[in-house]
Amino acid sequence: MCGIVGAVAQRDVSPVLLEGLKRLEYRGYDSAGLAVTNHDNQLQRIRVQGKVNELHKEHEASPLSGGTGIAHTRWATHGKPNVSNAHPHICRDQVALVHNGIIENHEQLREQQSASGFEFKSETDTEVVVNAVYEALQSNPDLLHAVFDTTKQLHGAYALGVINSADPERLIAAKNGSPLVIGIGIGEYFIASDVFALLPVTQQFIFLEDGDIADITRDKLTIYNSELEIVDRPLNVSELNADVADKAGYRHYMLKEIFSQPNAIAESLENRVIDGQVITNEFGQDADSIFSQVKSVKIAACGTSYHAGLIAAYWMEEIAKIPCHVEIASEYRYRKSVVTDDTLFVSISQSGETADTLAALQLAKQSGFLSTLAICNVGESSLTRESDLVFLTHAGPEIGVASTKAFTTQLVALFLMVIAIAKHNNLSTEDENTFVKQLESLPGRVNQLLHHKEEIETMAKDFADKHHALFLGRGSFLPIAMEGALKLKEISYIHAEAYAAGELKHGPLALVDDDMPVVAVAPNNNLLEKLKSNLQEVKARGGKLYLFADKESDVESTEGVYVINLNVVYDFMAPILHTIPLQLLAYYVAVIKGADIDQPRNLAKSVTVE
Ligand code: G6P
Repeated sequence: MCGIVGAVAQRDVSPVLLEGLKRLEYRGYDSAGLAVTNHDNQLQRIRVQGKVNELHKEHEASPLSGGTGIAHTRWATHGKPNVSNAHPHICRDQVALVHNGIIENHEQLREQQSASGFEFKSETDTEVVVNAVYEALQSNPDLLHAVFDTTKQLHGAYALGVINSADPERLIAAKNGSPLVIGIGIGEYFIASDVFALLPVTQQFIFLEDGDIADITRDKLTIYNSELEIVDRPLNVSELNADVADKAGYRHYMLKEIFSQPNAIAESLENRVIDGQVITNEFGQDADSIFSQVKSVKIAACGTSYHAGLIAAYWMEEIAKIPCHVEIASEYRYRKSVVTDDTLFVSISQSGETADTLAALQLAKQSGFLSTLAICNVGESSLTRESDLVFLTHAGPEIGVASTKAFTTQLVALFLMVIAIAKHNNLSTEDENTFVKQLESLPGRVNQLLHHKEEIETMAKDFADKHHALFLGRGSFLPIAMEGALKLKEISYIHAEAYAAGELKHGPLALVDDDMPVVAVAPNNNLLEKLKSNLQEVKARGGKLYLFADKESDVESTEGVYVINLNVVYDFMAPILHTIPLQLLAYYVAVIKGADIDQPRNLAKSVTVE
């Protein structure tokens, strides 16, 4: 999703802006640009369709230089991904602006501005904002007030960075609904969509809140709230270092992230389980008292995080014996649902900035839930700031758009949550100890599964020329099949659907022929025999089966059935373990197809618009 970087400094800010854009690439984008006020107080701009590397090349050919600048990676919403729609947008050679979010009333503003003589050069919703700032400057030449007046006209979500060649050493930033952080240097300030973009230049950050406007010069930062009153926002010192974005010798971030799962899981468990017990306080100081009142759980999330929620529901009902309902956040936010005051609302999000998940949380906060809990991988995110209880996964920054280590650590967090709640609902200490042991065994077991890499790479060759694939699972392995299908479609562009194996004969069986690979997750549990019968139905129709089976599942490769026997012994951790081979399968299929694995087409890492 769109990324913003901006800077006011004594030095030439172009290299900082270009490096910042490079570090925001993981968010997903299709065009990029930057604008700098040069030493003659003139705005200069370059924009490209495509990658930041192209922008670098353009910049090398005709460098921009100056102490104040803004830059942007655009993920197209309104208007095609081309140069004229790329940001920064400029009005009458004076005001330049970058925007992340969606201006919902842009059509109405466009009509008004056209009537007053503005000519539009793009199809974006953003251009009305830069025009509005310019127009406001005509009655009051102060850029802060012009941006403030403009925001009052806007409906929708925005993070903005605005510069004005008539006021060349000043940058105004505004936030409402889309993320924006200010980086504090020595005699210089920066803005960006996330801290990651700015780690090479600072470790000190201030997170703007919705409605905030920041007035930034080289030596002064003043933050105002939506009433234009000066406010104090806390200073945060990041512990991340600039090298986290390194591929560490792996060909893709996604592969690095798949292989870092043993470590990410171990980090997410550290200090959360001690002497066989879950430390409930890790969810927040009031967690014990809140968990003791929970009679049901509602989970809302998007994408991969939604799949994590689906698995948690199986655990919650089986272990804690508490009803648990999971919803896609974009659906939940627009439906009228019944809320009881003993229900805990849980949101799950890697980024903590997903617009639909945030909106679901905001709705939940007004709906009379017992409390809200966020499971998130980013400490200072909007989701964590707005929730009563927070559990941070310690997966470390995830760069690949297709989520891997964030997913498995979410599952770890959710299992801990289930135990912490179950303790108040008759979970015995003995059972708690057993579950904690299972959790603690995870890093080692995930590590062993990674050794199946070569076998899976060989299997992947069968998929490279296919256009469709079916994924089957039963019980808590259905969401794992869904996640496997999602991974495959995200990065290899093969159409993949997941079905509950028992549903096969109610429709998808009609699709099965020798051109349709059917992938099945076959854990050694009470549903194995039923699953085997479902698979016979596929085999009888000439479909080719690809099975990921537990060691003890007792299935062998035969004609038309390709089995990888995994080093998995069945227990509650099995869904987490079965995820790993499906991640590797999707990865190797995409490698064979030569796809852009870390930045798949049309997708974004952090979906900050609705
Ligand atoms: C995007 C990403 C997915 C992610 C989903 C939810 O679609 O590409 O990988 O699962 O957003 O993101 P969140 O940050 O809320 O987990």
